[in-house]
Amino acid sequence: MNLNIDVAGIKLEHPVMNASGILGSTYNDIAVLARAGFAAFVTKSFTREKREGYGTPIAVPISETLSLLNAVGLENPGLEGLAELLDSCKIFGKPIIVSIAGSSPEEFVEIAVVAEEHGATAVELNLSCPHVRGRGLEIGASPSAVREIVGIVSSSINIPVIVKLGLVDRLVEVASAALEAGARALTLINSVKAMKIDIYAAKPILGNRVGGLSGKAIHPIAVRAVYEVYRELKPDIIGVGGVFSWEDAIELIMAGARAVQIGTAIIYYGPEIVREIVEGMKRFLEQQGFRSIEEIVGYAVS
Ligand SMILES: Cc1cc2nc3c(=O)[nH]c(=O)nc-3n(C[C@H](O)[C@H](O)[C@H](O)COP(=O)(O)O)c2cc1C
Repeated sequence: MNLNIDVAGIKLEHPVMNASGILGSTYNDIAVLARAGFAAFVTKSFTREKREGYGTPIAVPISETLSLLNAVGLENPGLEGLAELLDSCKIFGKPIIVSIAGSSPEEFVEIAVVAEEHGATAVELNLSCPHVRGRGLEIGASPSAVREIVGIVSSSINIPVIVKLGLVDRLVEVASAALEAGARALTLINSVKAMKIDIYAAKPILGNRVGGLSGKAIHPIAVRAVYEVYRELKPDIIGVGGVFSWEDAIELIMAGARAVQIGTAIIYYGPEIVREIVEGMKRFLEQQGFRSIEEIVGYAVS
């Protein structure tokens, strides 16, 4: 049984990649992902200029629910760092998807062009960061803003444009705008805007006060988002949110995803978790009499 599948026209040896922001910032990060056996790599979100990120604490584990609250603040080395990263990671010979968090259509285009020039397989537009004002969720909540950015990026590059959306009220409408404007796939979902308070200090714990909740706690939200968008629009979807086991991955695929990303589970259990997930998916498909991953994409959707 092989787990080959394609998403947004990208051929994958199996459907599991890392989520942006988890081990996608440096050559060493990508080397770790390659050794662990991920099918493709997603970079940290890049901005034009280098960003330092927020004051500490930038993350708090919520271990009762295998979850994490973070407000890293899109720390990244900027455009120059991106070119260097892509050049050095060619040797891994696997698809590399560059995540972009611009603050204007022009910034998205500028980064996407550099990504293409330096051999990226695709770009993933982060239109859903829950904690950096002007670079995320506000854009991704507006069908017209999404249409504008996706349209201009899609017409500026030849590699596939993937659009990453978060938890917004008009998700199907926004997803539809992204697809009409040229997105080849959607990544669903980003972390969910949240807060935790230190009751002894009587103040929010994170340096930025508000952050994004990721991990097991958001898995059912991701499943619902993928299901609804798949049911209405049938696009290529990369499902992300609380994948800790092969069962979680299969759930997202049966909801309509063609591939999945893993973030917080890497932080809790290390990148080797990818092997267990891939092996578990293979066993499940064989035991249930399926011949390919393709057969179960959207299998639970009615
Ligand atoms: C520490 C951390 C940093 C993240 N940075 C980014 C980022 O730069 N760009 C992005 O699109 N998503 C980012 N995310 C969100 C993840 O890519 C993913 O959508 C989210 O964590 C849900 O998946 P998970 O539950 O498997 O972690 C980050 C998440 C975490 C935990």
